[in-house]
Amino acid sequence: MAIVQTGIGDAGVLQWQEQDPGTPGPGEVLLRQSVVGVNLIEIGMRQGAYPGPNPPFVPGFEGVGVVEAIGSDVDQVRVGQRVVYAFPPLGSYSETRVFPAEYLVPLPEDIDDETAAAMFMKGLTVWMLLERVYRVKAGDTILVHAAAGGTGLLMCQWAKSLGATVIGTVSTDEKARIAAAHGCDHPVNYTREDFRDTVRQVVGDAGLPVVYDSVGRDTFERSMECLAPTGTMALYGMASGEPDPYYLMRMGLDKSYFLTRPAVFVYVSRRDWLLQAAERLFVLVRSGAIRVEIHGRYPLRDAANAHQAVESRRTTGSTILTV
Ligand SMILES: NC(=O)c1ccc[n+]([C@@H]2O[C@H](COP(=O)([O-])OP(=O)(O)OC[C@H]3O[C@@H](n4cnc5c(N)ncnc54)[C@H](OP(=O)(O)O)[C@@H]3O)[C@@H](O)[C@H]2O)c1
Repeated sequence: MAIVQTGIGDAGVLQWQEQDPGTPGPGEVLLRQSVVGVNLIEIGMRQGAYPGPNPPFVPGFEGVGVVEAIGSDVDQVRVGQRVVYAFPPLGSYSETRVFPAEYLVPLPEDIDDETAAAMFMKGLTVWMLLERVYRVKAGDTILVHAAAGGTGLLMCQWAKSLGATVIGTVSTDEKARIAAAHGCDHPVNYTREDFRDTVRQVVGDAGLPVVYDSVGRDTFERSMECLAPTGTMALYGMASGEPDPYYLMRMGLDKSYFLTRPAVFVYVSRRDWLLQAAERLFVLVRSGAIRVEIHGRYPLRDAANAHQAVESRRTTGSTILTV
């Protein structure tokens, strides 16, 4: 059985249906899944805001499970092994599925299935942002939008472990409290305050070395205004929609920004990069530097309810589907 996205629209297009997982071909394995991670991108694809395949299809990029069978030419994992993944092809909202072995990571014994599904996609993304796109170092002050979200809470904690000061935006006082409890030094409730004012209060006119913007349309222009002259703008999501085009020449001669739209699937597309990122994440979780917060658990068949919770912005931390 699997959740099938039967059209573009509200959560009602997600339906619980019989699905044949097929048999693993060369380089592939058959997984029996235990937990599936929910990410905002699946909601964007369901709503038609992100490009996706034509329905019907099984959504989802992230899952945890046990290898049940392997095809030919598989040496990365073995039958019976617990594994985690966050990579295309789509299809993780399913009880069983076929998946390329190359993008599976064996799970250490001390990382349980729910924690793994709640953190893997989001954690790899934070690794990309804080340790690859711009290498955050002790003394940096950074701006993180959606700081109480699944990715946001991991980012606040990870950045603190690197010695950074974190300014984070949220939509409610309760989310501000939760972000603060996870390392956000200056939570900004943007329904009342302008985050540009907070940035000025914290760093004066110097500006920030980096802004991590996953909100897009509502924040992008103002995020750019927060940068230091050689700052990096990492536009890694568009929860509020696509920002208007930005005319680079308007920077003038007093600004030399780096502007990137990073995609995690590029940064973990080589197996050595993937294993390196995963190990870094496991070490931080194991050390206690990062606590993985699971806001909601839903049976896989109730994925529609999970989607409604995330898109209504009621959630903090991660949301998972149990199989
Ligand atoms: N580039 C990549 O490779 C990559 C990989 C993974 C995730 N992402 C991006 O990272 C972001 C966070 O993903 P997540 O799965 O961890 O989700 P999430 O942060 O748990 O949820 C999204 C949050 O965005 C904020 N938001 C602001 N405007 C919104 C709007 N108009 N509609 C909905 N939410 C809005 C909300 O927080 P407030 O209520 O506090 O505003 C909401 O809770 C997403 O934009 C996602 O696309 C990118």
